[in-house]
Amino acid sequence: MNRSSIHNAIRHEGGVSRRLFLAYATMLSSIPFIGCSTLARHNPRFSSYPFSLGIASGDPNSNSVVLWTRLAPKPLDPDGGMPPEPIAVKWQVAEDETMGKVVASGTEIATPQLGHSVHAEVNILKPDRWYWYRFTAGNEESAIARTRTLPQADSKPDRLTFAFASCQSLEQGYYTAYERMAQDQLDLVFHLGDYIYEYKSGNQGQVRLHHGKEIESLAEYRVRYAQYKSDQLLQNMHLRCPWFVTWDDHECDNNYANDISELKGTDPADFLIRRANAYQSFYENMPLRRTSVPAGPNLQLYRKTSFGQLAEFMVLDGRQYRSNQPNNDQRSPINTAALNPDITMLGARQRNWLKQSLIQSHGTWNVLAQQVMMAMVGMPNSGVPMTYSMDQWPGYAHERMDLLRFMAERKVANPVVLTGDIHMNWGNELRVDDRKPDTPVVATEFVGTSISSAGDGQDKIKDHDKLLSNNPCIKFHNRQRGYVRCTLTPETWTSDFMVVDKVTKPGGKVTKHTSMVIESGNPKLKKA
Ligand SMILES: [Fe+2]
Repeated sequence: MNRSSIHNAIRHEGGVSRRLFLAYATMLSSIPFIGCSTLARHNPRFSSYPFSLGIASGDPNSNSVVLWTRLAPKPLDPDGGMPPEPIAVKWQVAEDETMGKVVASGTEIATPQLGHSVHAEVNILKPDRWYWYRFTAGNEESAIARTRTLPQADSKPDRLTFAFASCQSLEQGYYTAYERMAQDQLDLVFHLGDYIYEYKSGNQGQVRLHHGKEIESLAEYRVRYAQYKSDQLLQNMHLRCPWFVTWDDHECDNNYANDISELKGTDPADFLIRRANAYQSFYENMPLRRTSVPAGPNLQLYRKTSFGQLAEFMVLDGRQYRSNQPNNDQRSPINTAALNPDITMLGARQRNWLKQSLIQSHGTWNVLAQQVMMAMVGMPNSGVPMTYSMDQWPGYAHERMDLLRFMAERKVANPVVLTGDIHMNWGNELRVDDRKPDTPVVATEFVGTSISSAGDGQDKIKDHDKLLSNNPCIKFHNRQRGYVRCTLTPETWTSDFMVVDKVTKPGGKVTKHTSMVIESGNPKLKKA
């Protein structure tokens, strides 16, 4: 089905679900799920090193993990410098870093339809263990990387250390934060979105330039991922441990909502074609399970995992199902548009899944790994009444308050929200309505700053004290670049806000700015 027949069908049928179905039908035909081994080339020769985008692992559970790579001898070519044929890629998993004791091995077929990406799901591993892995294709060998499985669901681990990160504009800074992160002894990394930016070359900065115009086609998204994935510091961090990834808006289009583009007036059917390109390239470039193979403009990304009974993680998707931002996406008071019960960030299905997951959880810490800030932070210098970002949770205030009320009423143990998006560090105490500081604190939010987006940044803005005094929910705020390192025990959660003094030059200095602590049973934040 081509674009004009989609338009004709919409004229006749109308409706968003019909549009989704049509774009789905268009895209589905181009994606094979599994390559055919007998047709694949088993002894390929490459024009140059095919593992130029690195290797990675992700989405571990207690007996399995996904191993990822994508063959691209010429990363900036639309096809990665690969011939239009399937290629056999072998993988091995070992119990030691020299790959002496191999415990699992296999072959995956990297197909041109999926950008010669490889997603090997290794299902026969032991729980709570470190492993090492590598790929080979033809005569070429990848680096050796480290990964791990998680403890069994009924176990009681005494410690977990992970980092979370987001927002890595290549044009606005170097990935010094990842260089420092690689020295931490981390079990996991959570990436909360804006892994790439879609903008044209030079739109954001000049530290390193994007290749080409604003990306829309599948080839353009692939080349953009290749450019980001070529960064050595990012690759090195993927070698260290498994990642859980989710997306925000820039993996597709700034501030999009479901099938509505930032560019107002864009036909949703046209936008869903772009979204299908964005989602497919996201899958191709991330260590995701088969459950996330895209189906046209749809991709199942929300999911959960448990680190024994120490922590339950719910990874959310706040973009694919959301209603259009209320109040025309302008900063606004929390008015009837944001309080409309039909406005949703998660969509009904994901919201019900989340609530079910929260009441079923045996985790000491119940963690929402997600995109945009949940604290209702009003801007004090924009007059009275205070205004709030309509792209963030305050724009979806009815759903947000309902979720916090649910957590309080159902006595969900230690809810903690992890957030990216806004290129700033925050430690926030969440109430059902944050504008009512005399009501009980229900949950805790840690907002991690960007890896590089927005350039060097600063410790405090001019109105820092005013911001905090107008918003009692804020317990820490800083505007430098970096990441957040979290250490969990059954008794305490410690978040270390790691900041970089400069990202516009390589080799910036990374220091621990502040550590914030919560104790199990008390969501109030304290400085360590
Ligand atoms: Fe961002």
